[in-house]
Amino acid sequence: MRRRIRGVIPALVCALAVACFTACNPGTDISEHPCPPAGTEHTYENFGEAFFATYCVECHGGPNGYSSRAFVTVQSIRDQRDRVFLNSAADNTYMPPGPDGPSEAERNMLADWLACGAP
Ligand code: HEC
Repeated sequence: MRRRIRGVIPALVCALAVACFTACNPGTDISEHPCPPAGTEHTYENFGEAFFATYCVECHGGPNGYSSRAFVTVQSIRDQRDRVFLNSAADNTYMPPGPDGPSEAERNMLADWLACGAP
């Protein structure tokens, strides 16, 4: 009997974690936002670099008082594409923290650019 209860607890914890992942994470995931059929006209050079410099690098420029997470090369952004999307692209507005941030149009550009692989 004891054994059976012990087996049930991890299963419950697991089910709760899965339920929470969907319910507690209302954000739009990158998998829900495919690259548009026509692709994106944006590149790191004409869009990404300035976007991150304007809105993110103040805190994500390398180890500093805010974050050790750096977005100063296109590769570092590609590597964290899913997390960047979930925090800042489309209707996700967790980052940057505070009231000032990219416009809706800029967040949509970021979404397309990330979804197309951050060219
Ligand atoms: C005012 C400072 C500040 C600004 C500006 C800022 N961040 Fe953050 N960010 C933080 C802090 C603090 C954390 C928590 C530490 C960490 O995980 O690196 C964080 C965490 C993150 C994470 C990891 C959290 C997760 O759920 O994966 C991502 C991704 C992120 N920020 C992306 C961005 C992007 C993209 C921008 C620009 C649009 C941005 N941040 C602007 C302070 C900032």
